[in-house]
Amino acid sequence: MPTVERRYPALLDPPDLKASLAAELAEARARTLTLLEPVSDDDLVRQHSPLMSPLVWDLAHIGFFEELWLVRGVGGEEPLLDRDELYDAFRHGRSERAELPLLTPAEAAAYVERVRERTLAVLERAELDSADPLLGDGYVFAMVVQHEQQHVETMLATLNLREAEYPFAEPPAPAPAPLGAPEQLVESGPFAMGTDDRSRAYDNERGLHEVDVPAFWIDTAPVTNGAYLDFVEAGGYDDERFWSDAGWAWRRETDAAHPQFWRPEGDGSWSRTRLGRREALPAGEPVQHVCWYEADAFARWSGRRLPTEAEWEKAAAAAPGAPHANLGERFGPVPVGCYPAGASAWGVEQALGDVWEWTASDLRPYPGFEAFPYAEYSEVFFGDEYKVLRGGSWATHQAAVRITFRNWDFPVRRQIFAGFRTARNG
Ligand SMILES: [Fe+2]
Repeated sequence: MPTVERRYPALLDPPDLKASLAAELAEARARTLTLLEPVSDDDLVRQHSPLMSPLVWDLAHIGFFEELWLVRGVGGEEPLLDRDELYDAFRHGRSERAELPLLTPAEAAAYVERVRERTLAVLERAELDSADPLLGDGYVFAMVVQHEQQHVETMLATLNLREAEYPFAEPPAPAPAPLGAPEQLVESGPFAMGTDDRSRAYDNERGLHEVDVPAFWIDTAPVTNGAYLDFVEAGGYDDERFWSDAGWAWRRETDAAHPQFWRPEGDGSWSRTRLGRREALPAGEPVQHVCWYEADAFARWSGRRLPTEAEWEKAAAAAPGAPHANLGERFGPVPVGCYPAGASAWGVEQALGDVWEWTASDLRPYPGFEAFPYAEYSEVFFGDEYKVLRGGSWATHQAAVRITFRNWDFPVRRQIFAGFRTARNG
């Protein structure tokens, strides 16, 4: 897969910025097409889970989003597709999409290619030094790159739910180094949360605001499969004391007894599947496929709690991203301790990459929030229904995550590549 040197787009002159954005668009497309290449047409059109779209919907939707914002929006060109309603994510739920008159895999592939040709022509003539916040610094082009990379992660979640094994190959993980200490103290004091960046950040990450955070301790690394297994084997799923009321209701309704994709082998050992491949449970990797309720119950069982998102963001300060993080290049997490050079200013490791981390926080707007460029990106999700996740996963490309990046999902969701770390008051 081609790699793009990360530069700060706002510091580039428009001609270099255009070349950089074109390279990022190409890299995202290469990742999309490489991922789908081994998947049969039957599997592209099938609904693998009611939680996920058919893969062919994601593919055409990637093109539709790009056409809408870049070809029609920036370029002012005529529509290339007259099926807008099919690919608008707000018109049909994921579980209904296989029933729609979607483009076939061949039509979808031809469509995204046609859109991309137009996009590159629009980029060529775009005025990226514009004062318009959508066009200035190439924001809308970077938004389209992020959108495609985000859908690659969504498609990986779909492929992970599919019965068939996905043929993946990856280099061996870096050798893990023992963690210096199990937890790190983050001293009390204000820090600057969020960002004022207008070249990449989404509306929900703005604006930059001071938050005073009392001292707390936070796990050096995400909770591992091995540590989580102790909770499972100690009967944590059968002890109501460790669960919130809503968590216990979820536990009873689902009869969950361990993370999704785990299986007891009957001889005391455990396995898990990853993209359809069954493997012995790797004790040193961060646990994933736990919902928020499970993360919260584990934290209570260990006498701790989930960090708030302000605590998480403060603890992750100055954590370098790729190549010192597992972002978008592998097919699963690597053991904790693999990226000591990726430690934050507070000594917190693997905050970026490996697994999304559930936080204690609901998704709420920051002070002075302004919806941009459309209310459906974040604003319609604010409230107490969604929990915030931070830091990206192994499936997240570096173009689609930052220390300030906020992801969110329902507290019952387990198919996403999410784990957690725990905290306690200082
Ligand atoms: Fe989308």
